[in-house]
Amino acid sequence: MSAPSPFMQAAIDLAASVRGTTSPNPWVGAVLVRDGRIIAQGATAPYGGPHAEANALARTDARGTTLYCTLEPCVPFPGKRTPPCTETIIAAGVRRVVIALLDPHVGGKGVQRLRNAGIDVEIGDGAEAVTNLLRPYLKWRQLGIPYVIAKVAVSLDGAVGAPAAGITWLTGEAAIARAHRDRASVDAILVGSGTVLADDPALTARPNGQPAPRQPVRIVLDARGRTDPAARVFQPTAPVIVATAPGSPPTWRQALLQRGITLLELERTEGRLELRQLLQTLGQRNIQSLIVEGGPTVHASFFDADLVDELHAYVTPRLLGSVGLPLVPPQHPFPIVHLDNVEIEPLPPDVLVRGYTGSWQPPLPILTPEA
Ligand SMILES: NC(=O)c1ccc[n+]([C@@H]2O[C@H](COP(=O)([O-])OP(=O)(O)OC[C@H]3O[C@@H](n4cnc5c(N)ncnc54)[C@H](OP(=O)(O)O)[C@@H]3O)[C@@H](O)[C@H]2O)c1
Repeated sequence: MSAPSPFMQAAIDLAASVRGTTSPNPWVGAVLVRDGRIIAQGATAPYGGPHAEANALARTDARGTTLYCTLEPCVPFPGKRTPPCTETIIAAGVRRVVIALLDPHVGGKGVQRLRNAGIDVEIGDGAEAVTNLLRPYLKWRQLGIPYVIAKVAVSLDGAVGAPAAGITWLTGEAAIARAHRDRASVDAILVGSGTVLADDPALTARPNGQPAPRQPVRIVLDARGRTDPAARVFQPTAPVIVATAPGSPPTWRQALLQRGITLLELERTEGRLELRQLLQTLGQRNIQSLIVEGGPTVHASFFDADLVDELHAYVTPRLLGSVGLPLVPPQHPFPIVHLDNVEIEPLPPDVLVRGYTGSWQPPLPILTPEA
């Protein structure tokens, strides 16, 4: 597929600037063009606020213009919180609308409504780029479960730390800052009890050293109730969900409930909490994207269940030798994984390697809505 036009690229950049802050709405960008020049632009506001198209249209007289938007404009439906964008576009007198991708939630009705009102509509400019940008939203809409990013810091010899040598933190400042920006753009972060016991992480998003205005939900897998209710992750700086198994200690559960923490009771398979059941429950709670930041045990379970969509490996330039804790635990099944669409980002002294696992493929863009 071809590269987006410059105007669509501007809309995509706007959408990317609000990635993950609009959930459960998709993050969308829109630019308004007159005589070959952008005269107004908008991005989706946080949930309940105006959509990208409405934000762009509110800024100028739009009569006779072309609107570039990354996703199909919304239509009226019962219980809708914001005015439908199709009606705002029609009322503003826009002449032509260029859309990168149809919204599976709108299903072509937005395009039909605009065409019925006499507006020229073109679909497909930037479709591939927008599909990739909206992978979490598209997966959640299609399957009802979150898009999963496995994040790990790993040494050149494949170790995630060397607790016996007192080495628990591997990466430098640039990598840490990058990881915090990613945390701020997802709905949830997950670790296992092993990481809480070993590292006592806060698991908050602190891009630029400051807490992000919208904190991801923190999720801890603790089947047996081994974590300390006084751990940093349980402090009330952001919502917390603890997934546990039947039979975990009632006193421990009570202590968590008193802190306002949500407890989910999950089934266990071979001693491990059922991850598919967890993801379905999270999807029902409008969690579209999840970063798994666990230790080797949790990563092995997610990969073994084929539930990882994207890997972010921060490779750090050292060998942890015979005391290194391997990313792939010898006693756990762990599949072979090839990454696609690989991007490499130098974050001196570390390197971030990112790619898609192919566990889920986004649907091919539909370019012609049904009549
Ligand atoms: N380099 C990195 O990126 C990184 C990141 C995080 C941690 N670490 C290191 O990793 C080490 C901890 O490793 P870990 O493997 O013990 O931590 P973990 O993977 O975060 O936690 C493992 C524990 O989670 C619980 N669990 C519940 N359901 C599970 C499921 N479905 N699948 C897997 N686990 C499940 C299990 O305990 P229960 O049965 O009691 O529930 C299990 O023992 C520490 O040394 C830490 O510093 C490194």
